[in-house]
Amino acid sequence: MDWAEAAYGDLPSLRAAGRPYVAVNMVASADGAIAVDGRTAKLGGPSDHHLFHYLRSLADVILVGAQTVRAEHYGPPRVSDERQADRRARGQAPVPRVAIVSRSLDLDLDGPLFTADTSRPIVIVPEAADRERRAAVAAVAEVIVAGAEVVDLAAGLRALGELGATFVLCEGGPTVNHALARDDLIDELCLTIAPVFVGGSSGILSSKGLADLLELTLVHARTRDDDLFLRYRRADRSGSPADVAVLPGVDAFSRIVTELDYPMMVVTAGTAEERSGCLVGFGTQGSISPGRYVVLLSKVNHTFGVARDADVVAVHFLSSEDRHVAELFGSATGDEVDKFAQCEWDEGPLGVPILRGIARWFVGRVLDRVDTGDHVALVLDPIAGEAGPWPKQLGFQDVRDLHPGHPA
Ligand SMILES: NC(=O)c1ccc[n+]([C@@H]2O[C@H](COP(=O)([O-])OP(=O)(O)OC[C@H]3O[C@@H](n4cnc5c(N)ncnc54)[C@H](OP(=O)(O)O)[C@@H]3O)[C@@H](O)[C@H]2O)c1
Repeated sequence: MDWAEAAYGDLPSLRAAGRPYVAVNMVASADGAIAVDGRTAKLGGPSDHHLFHYLRSLADVILVGAQTVRAEHYGPPRVSDERQADRRARGQAPVPRVAIVSRSLDLDLDGPLFTADTSRPIVIVPEAADRERRAAVAAVAEVIVAGAEVVDLAAGLRALGELGATFVLCEGGPTVNHALARDDLIDELCLTIAPVFVGGSSGILSSKGLADLLELTLVHARTRDDDLFLRYRRADRSGSPADVAVLPGVDAFSRIVTELDYPMMVVTAGTAEERSGCLVGFGTQGSISPGRYVVLLSKVNHTFGVARDADVVAVHFLSSEDRHVAELFGSATGDEVDKFAQCEWDEGPLGVPILRGIARWFVGRVLDRVDTGDHVALVLDPIAGEAGPWPKQLGFQDVRDLHPGHPA
């Protein structure tokens, strides 16, 4: 498998709630410049070009600001026959569509981007865009109107989602990146650091500050030649970031665990006075005789605090009909909402809450606690439970689109 495919091939399978998943791809110099003489050509080496084209081959839509289209003389995206076959196998159109953000509509409508017959570009405009220009653009492209004076990118992305896009690759420039970041619409940043100083140029977001810092989690850092390839994910987004490493094998680990399926559980702890519950995906039988189960709780989860001193916890295995329960316990944090006010439950053995309507659950006495990193494993001795009929288990892949109420 190609190195780019191994490190970025999961992008089309990632999901965001209510809009397409957005990854921004940029190249910057070692001192943070994103252009030399107004163009990127002198920054990207062969490996970066390879990644640029590979990421394009994954996208449903390439989102880009009009100034980048003008400066870089954008043409229609080219995708090799082999990558087109991959796209068809994933259910995508053979080539991605380009979506240009513009208010002036100062675009070369006679140029190859608008005249090629491979795919029809999209132009995202605000209401305030000139009517005559809009009509001219509509003759050669699909026009999406989003926002009044300037383009509302959240609305624009939702409209791209309605056209069937689930993965949008944003290729900048800094003005569009900034508008996305301002509304916290960037799920990932794929950043290449090129081994060169440029000086005197701005960075990957335009120079205005953001209202809040947006924290990123490093998914990987890889090197090829002297280029450094960084892949960041917004800290609160779903997906399973790998350990940080420049070792190629760790990327493989990330991909393997992200694509595994395993049963989803709701673990509850506490008593009628103080109780908590959370959606958990890490757990396995740990011994047959004696019967033992190991379940792992994230340290930042509210339930971890309640379970820290608990003698018992209840583990509920969700069925395919219990997705609403996964949403309740997986998308909100017990620090902020009382999940138990929104579901029916009974007091079980030693007062632990048992969710009504979940066919398969057991209560386990906590025999041991093992610190595994950002999680703690509870070794459980089952002391009570029920094994009612259920259609089939709810798996991790069924709920990957849920946004956790906390960072882990
Ligand atoms: N290093 C890299 O990876 C990389 C990547 C991309 C670009 N670049 C460089 O970045 C430079 C261009 O970046 P840039 O920041 O000047 O421009 P940009 O983000 O590419 O485009 C800005 C233009 O997009 C439109 N636009 C953006 N946000 C809008 C909104 N909310 N509502 C309406 N229109 C909006 C406007 O178009 P109108 O003017 O048509 O109204 C605006 O002038 C170029 O030098 C390019 O080479 C570098």
